[in-house]
Amino acid sequence: MARERFLIKGLGGAQALSGSIAVKGAKNAALKALASSILFEDGITLNNVPDIEDVKRMNDILSALGVVVSNKKEGEYALSVPGTLATDLPVDLAQKMRASIVLTGPILSRFGKVSFPHPGGCVIGERPIDLFLSGFEAMGARVTRESDRYTLFVPDGRLSGTSIFFKKPSVTATETLIMAATLAKGETIIKNAAREPEIGILADFLNSCGARIRGAGDANIYIEGGGLLSGVRDVFHTPSDRIETGSFLILGALAGVNFEIKNCNPKHVEALTEILRQVGVAVDVGKNSIMLSKNAHPSSLTSVDIETREYPGFPTDLQAPMTVFLTQTSGQSLVFETIFEGRLSYVEELVRMGADIKALDPHRVIVRGPKALKGREMESPDLRAGLAFVIAAIVAKGDSVIHNVYNIDRGYEKIEERLRGVGVDIKRIGP
Ligand code: UD1
Repeated sequence: MARERFLIKGLGGAQALSGSIAVKGAKNAALKALASSILFEDGITLNNVPDIEDVKRMNDILSALGVVVSNKKEGEYALSVPGTLATDLPVDLAQKMRASIVLTGPILSRFGKVSFPHPGGCVIGERPIDLFLSGFEAMGARVTRESDRYTLFVPDGRLSGTSIFFKKPSVTATETLIMAATLAKGETIIKNAAREPEIGILADFLNSCGARIRGAGDANIYIEGGGLLSGVRDVFHTPSDRIETGSFLILGALAGVNFEIKNCNPKHVEALTEILRQVGVAVDVGKNSIMLSKNAHPSSLTSVDIETREYPGFPTDLQAPMTVFLTQTSGQSLVFETIFEGRLSYVEELVRMGADIKALDPHRVIVRGPKALKGREMESPDLRAGLAFVIAAIVAKGDSVIHNVYNIDRGYEKIEERLRGVGVDIKRIGP
């Protein structure tokens, strides 16, 4: 699959896409809910789970630990959790996915020990795990590191609640420590926690199954530890993917007319809709849909500076598609990536397509537009930049080939089929 590629015939700047495109369940919500199964005495059921490679990877790790994973029907999984599980994350599987680290919280709090390799994932700069380790230590765990493997154990078997302050509001560290605190002794307070919607959604689910978590979605989260949860009380409904929603919105603003994004939660992408309106895109927001009807051509839209921020700010995961958008609007825009270092290296490929982008430093680039893009043969560097290349190829003149489609399949379900539904000429070509 790694060797599959997309062949895309570009529109040469025409706004020729129309119809509806439906958003799938959120990868970043489903992965954490799957990991939370370890907190349960019985198991959990999830629906609206996207059919993506990262979900397969998470389920492979859970199965390797001893969880029984069954795919009941499309989008629906039942996970049954036995009384004991392996506590060592397998190197090959864990290194393939950064999000595997969220498993460490529930495993450590349930079994008093866990070992894992430094997690892999998208190459978007240095991705430290110090917040996880110091959080676990503050809760009573001992941490040792031997070559690339961390081993953690809790001398008296059960983590203790405490007050934890994050120097940075990390999404996965917040979720991991919420899960660890759910089975700990006493109260844990996470201060300067991340506020991404997926965190509140996970906490609501855990609460409906017996956990006591307050404040998820705010900067301070309070978790009163207790016993194992029970999954008979609720089903986890995976919310719509806000990054997919935003990416489709950007695609529609560039190349669509009468273009509708369905099955989404517009409240989760307000940072983007606000900016699109500001530059002149007519965005019509419904309850679960967003409509772009009378689209101005991007060359008649103005430039705008964007700065990625923690939620509810502009998401770093939409930075690459937004940069593609800004290559087509008129004027000079500054793109400032404040969350990750090294998450702008994909712009070199856009420059080879004809974009005018100058790097100022590892965090900032200047984009001047509008510049016609030319189709090219390129490699998907990571999940989010991979989709940005697909969008750039759709806008460009001529054919593009995008290699390493596996990187796109990690986060977007059958993207080519859904894009074809709105008029994109895209084919998946085998190895
Ligand atoms: C999650 C998302 C990812 C998104 C990112 C930011 C998942 C599976 N992934 O990633 O799609 O791009 O949030 O919205 O949900 N940091 C530390 N020490 C740590 C952990 C993080 O310094 O121990 C720093 C990071 O280097 C980064 C910042 O905190 O500068 C935020 O990263 P974080 O929120 O942790 O990203 P992820 O949770 O990995």
